[in-house]
Amino acid sequence: MPYRTTIEPFRIKSVEPIRFTTAAERERALAEAGYNLFTLAADDVLIDLLTDSGTGAMSTEQWAALMRGDESYAGARSFARFERAVHDLTGMPYVIPTHQGRAAESILFRQVAGADSIVPNNTHFDTTRANVEQTGAVAVDLACEAARDLRSEVDFKGDLDIVGLRATIDEVGADRVPLVMITITNNSGGGQPVSMANLRAAREVCDEYGIPLFLDACRFAENAWFVTQREPGYAEHEPREVAREAFALADGCTISFKKDGFANIGGLLALRDPELAERCRTQLILTEGFPTYGGLAGRDLDAIAQGLQEVTDPDYLRYRVRTAAYLAEIAEAAGAPTVRPPGGHAVYLDAAGLLPHIPPHELPAQSLALELYREGGVRGVEIGTLMFGRPDPHGGPDTAAPYELVRLALPRRVYTQSHVDYVGEVIAMVAGRAGELGGYRIVGSLAGCGTSPRASRRSPVEGAGHDRPAPSRRRARECVAVEPRW
Ligand code: F0G
Repeated sequence: MPYRTTIEPFRIKSVEPIRFTTAAERERALAEAGYNLFTLAADDVLIDLLTDSGTGAMSTEQWAALMRGDESYAGARSFARFERAVHDLTGMPYVIPTHQGRAAESILFRQVAGADSIVPNNTHFDTTRANVEQTGAVAVDLACEAARDLRSEVDFKGDLDIVGLRATIDEVGADRVPLVMITITNNSGGGQPVSMANLRAAREVCDEYGIPLFLDACRFAENAWFVTQREPGYAEHEPREVAREAFALADGCTISFKKDGFANIGGLLALRDPELAERCRTQLILTEGFPTYGGLAGRDLDAIAQGLQEVTDPDYLRYRVRTAAYLAEIAEAAGAPTVRPPGGHAVYLDAAGLLPHIPPHELPAQSLALELYREGGVRGVEIGTLMFGRPDPHGGPDTAAPYELVRLALPRRVYTQSHVDYVGEVIAMVAGRAGELGGYRIVGSLAGCGTSPRASRRSPVEGAGHDRPAPSRRRARECVAVEPRW
């Protein structure tokens, strides 16, 4: 293409105003929220990059599809259209709608996993891990070697560690591994893609041991786009063909349609095994609803069916993936290191790299996330010691998470390039005074705060709890925080 600018491949028909706040209003909102970005009123956020889940904009065709929604309890036309769209994409015969991704995970793992089981995944998303662990099973993350170095420029850092997979199965015995799961793209690993070669290698191992292979395919289209751009032999392929090939390698999948389904709600469990499908449907009826709507309205099923046609459009995917790369370039140029290479749905800022003066137990990634909001009303999410740190049994500081990241997730088709430029400027302002940012500490849980987090806040204590004096320019603030509730 002769032009430098990758434009948004749509024009805007309906607009939603966003609200500007003053620095004083944001400071007050932060204090009232107990320095927990999940507790802010969305109305106080200017650019909301908390998640790419359920936050996308629907197309004109999706809005039209809503009007075609058939709300019949059983056998609705909407289900037939939904089922056709899922068949066309995944080739899987048993199509079970759920209200969102985690409901599909819950139903699946209740059927296949138990106290003795081990479930390998490149990296479990939080809800996937929780649904595995709820059955008493152990969730094992087997990310490839390259994923461990945040800065390495490797094409498929989402790949599953195949050697580790084999070793894990050999160690525990194949009969204790009910399935192997691969998350495409690997959200918890930086939104990094998984190669088709890796999927095939995992398939071979699974065949060898007689274990089913499942995909957590929330971002299947973004993954397919990366394959066309990076994997030898796929340059001439359409993203839709690549996605179909990925699904063809799997025995089943769970999907949250709040991501690449272009929908605000919805999920899927799709299977090839009729007996497992029957058991899952029985469970579905207990918790989600009748098998032809599974917790969704007919109109939602229609919006998803349409979304699944649109999301593999190469013009959309080019713009989508370019947006994250563009924001990452601005951040890097401003001196804010990011997880390399940029993923499909988000930019992950490396707070440990930007704020080396804040130790993990003072929550550097939370400090950075709060500062982006304080500076410019931009909301991201901490993925560091606040989310993953564990209390020290001897009363010392929480054990540190392996990384201190702030995820800036990009809702689909929602923000324009000038919004992204603005976010870049906010990052640059904060990065320019990184040395002045201070740490935080947890002083309580929001659950204990009831509806008035302010009531349980105590005055900020300079350097309190630190094992060495705080540099004078740093502020030690209180952070009434709980682990984010996805
Ligand atoms: N799997 C992955 C890889 C996810 O990213 C998510 C959700 C889920 C499963 C669960 O789907 O929310 O529809 O129940 N991720 C969101 C996020 C919440 O912000 O990354 P769900």
